[in-house]
Amino acid sequence: MSHNQTLLQPFKLGELTLNNRVIMAPMTRSRSEQPGDIPTALNAEYYGQRASAGLIITEGVPVSAGAKGYAFTPGIFTDAQQAGWKLVTDAVHAKGGRIAAQLWHVGRISHHSVLPKGVAPVAPSAIQAQSKTFAFDDQGVPGMVDCDPPQALTEQGLAQVLNEFAQAAKRAVAAGFDLVEVHGANGYLLEQFLATKTNKRDDQYGGSLINRARFVLEVVDAVIASVGAQKVGLRVSPWCPAFINDIDFSEETEEITLYLAEELAKRKIAFIHLAEWPGVTYSANFRQQLRSKFNGSLIVCGSYQQSSAQQIIDQGLADAVAFGRPFIANPDLPERFAQGAALAEPDQATFYGGAAQGYTDYPFLNQPG
Ligand SMILES: Cc1cc2nc3c(=O)[nH]c(=O)nc-3n(C[C@H](O)[C@H](O)[C@H](O)COP(=O)(O)O)c2cc1C
Repeated sequence: MSHNQTLLQPFKLGELTLNNRVIMAPMTRSRSEQPGDIPTALNAEYYGQRASAGLIITEGVPVSAGAKGYAFTPGIFTDAQQAGWKLVTDAVHAKGGRIAAQLWHVGRISHHSVLPKGVAPVAPSAIQAQSKTFAFDDQGVPGMVDCDPPQALTEQGLAQVLNEFAQAAKRAVAAGFDLVEVHGANGYLLEQFLATKTNKRDDQYGGSLINRARFVLEVVDAVIASVGAQKVGLRVSPWCPAFINDIDFSEETEEITLYLAEELAKRKIAFIHLAEWPGVTYSANFRQQLRSKFNGSLIVCGSYQQSSAQQIIDQGLADAVAFGRPFIANPDLPERFAQGAALAEPDQATFYGGAAQGYTDYPFLNQPG
């Protein structure tokens, strides 16, 4: 490398000093203990193996039983789940790592087979997603099924969701997480509020850009009230395409993101995490504006490699870069970057569900056998 590899050097995010700027991106792996959606010793081993990341952001973690949309995803709303996550955070901390919980509400991307009896998916508006989720068919066989029609959130329902995020954040910190990331990306509940395709409300949560951003900021405020701003980040995905959960977040997408950035700067949260989808090119102008409006840390993610990650940091357009798929197959990704070693390729067939295969059995560099 011709220039200084700041990617591999420590940096400060919120009140934490991270060992490097290589972040493990949130990735759903659907391997919790059943029944109860409880994190296990196997999950602790998986995250512990990846503790050399500057920061691990966990898979999406439903904040309540009603926030869930996929089979086998580990929650953070029961004592047993909280105890399971403690195994995970202990394993990461024992190796000197840092870990954030991604707090998740799927909104309309859900199905009755993964929800409590009689509970329907909720959304800003009662518009069914023309997409599928991983749940159970009528015979109880796991697989891809059509999302159910959602109910529009009432005032009371909105208050309940705020409370669920606040409680989940509290449990996360009690379980040993260093930070929480609010999942505002990829077509789930919070982005369903931001996008005009999914938000047809005529109250103060719909219509104008400021109204559509309101619920996201209320969720962030609820989480801040629970754990403090310096422990909070928000993931967003401007321009998220229609093929991701039928969202098509394109109308005023940069404007609303920049408005959020301005508001989040006032609240002094620790970071914004930009999830970039393939096929989307964020203009340098947008990136620069995001930078100038938000003075906390900016994490970017999406098809980065070591060189492009170092480059965007050098350009001053990000502080840290999250890697998703590379971390599945390379538990020691920062070390591989340091050595310029080849990267292993992940096996897509084992991304979701199952046990140790394709999860904890990817070798480290120089690992015998
Ligand atoms: C198996 C898998 C599961 C994912 N689950 C989540 C998730 O739970 N929450 C989230 O925000 N993004 C999720 N993503 C998206 C990643 O965080 C990341 O944005 C994406 O993989 C692009 O980064 P990459 O090119 O480095 O893999 C997932 C991606 C993969 C491959």
